[in-house]
Amino acid sequence: MSDFVNGFWGYFISIVAVGGVVWCVWLLYTQRRWLSAKPASGQVEDTGHVWDGDLTELNNPVPTWWTWMYLLACAFALGYLFLMPGLGEYKGKLGFSSAGELEQQQAKMAEAVRPIYARFDTMTVPQVAQDPGAREIGQRLFLNTCSQCHRSDAKGGPGYPNLTDDDWLHGGSPEAIMQTIKEGRHGIMPPWKASIDPKMAGDIAQYVRSLSGLTSDPIRVFRGKREFANFCVACHGVDGKGNQLVGAPNLTDDVWLYGSSETSIVKTILDGRDNQMPAHEHILTPDQIKILTAWVWGLSNKPDAQNPAQSQAAAAPAESGTAKQ
Ligand code: HEC
Ligand code: HEC
Repeated sequence: MSDFVNGFWGYFISIVAVGGVVWCVWLLYTQRRWLSAKPASGQVEDTGHVWDGDLTELNNPVPTWWTWMYLLACAFALGYLFLMPGLGEYKGKLGFSSAGELEQQQAKMAEAVRPIYARFDTMTVPQVAQDPGAREIGQRLFLNTCSQCHRSDAKGGPGYPNLTDDDWLHGGSPEAIMQTIKEGRHGIMPPWKASIDPKMAGDIAQYVRSLSGLTSDPIRVFRGKREFANFCVACHGVDGKGNQLVGAPNLTDDVWLYGSSETSIVKTILDGRDNQMPAHEHILTPDQIKILTAWVWGLSNKPDAQNPAQSQAAAAPAESGTAKQ
């Protein structure tokens, strides 16, 4: 069993489980005479303990049904440990596991809903994105699986990217979105504390703010620009427009994952950021991933103009999705 860090615990659990049953039977066996002791001529033996001068404790035998109940419980326990996984790494004669049961149920469920997804098999992601039925499924899947991080309107929050604004850390093509959902993403901005002091970080932050046209101090921007060229262009590019291959955001578009204030930018520079989108390929089926890819893609891509009949149905949610925050 992979849950154990080493073999010791498997043996420990087996010994405690079997030992408990053996101990129980041993106790019943050694006490058998005492249990069946018949009081001689209605006289009940007492334990010899006396309280308050005349209060004695009688030593009545335990009823026979009680003894039997215990023996049956022990027999049940041994039978159970033989059939089911209860002894360390032993899997049990029936080979039951709750993970296996879950997998079986999931496979059954997937098979039952398969026909609903079958009609999307031959469609491309943009085509699925226009299908009203697919949009409905996509939205529900999103609410169930993604909204706890990206919020129910998919507009995200600090650290969780907005998925409706056509501004992408890792790419907004159907392929890139699908890869994000399947494999997850890890955005790492390294900390610069060791080589950049807070004052210099403030200057760089002023320059970064100026890239998005936010208010900034021209002298500090001038100093910051020099340092930006030294430390930041490798990932964010000479023009600050970012690089989707390493998940480095565009710093010129006034869209912020962590906020546009100097304090927030200085914090990013000095402490770095380590942000992770979990992989979903083991949680969702390939069908569900395709529908979700299409749904997310549709949030920032207008439906195909060559197909007006279907576009209309899909247009409403797509437009409300791209609305400014
Ligand atoms: C546990 C939180 C969490 C959950 C759940 C989650 N995400 Fe994410 N997601 C993130 C984070 C954090 C990032 C940003 C990663 C980074 O900084 O590089 C992200 C990034 C993304 C991106 C890339 C955005 C870009 O700009 O390139 C997409 C697309 C995305 N998520 C879609 C989804 C979908 C669809 C789901 C549901 C299947 C989902 N996420 C579930 C946390 C989450
Ligand atoms: C090794 C590549 C790399 C280098 C070098 C780098 N960054 Fe980053 N930066 C990233 C990544 C990746 C992210 C996204 C982190 C995340 O997904 O949470 C990021 C995020 C940021 C953000 C947050 C943007 C937002 O939307 O809130 C700012 C600001 C930033 N970087 C500025 C800088 C500055 C200034 C420098 C130079 C001192 C720098 N970066 C150097 C990779 C880098």
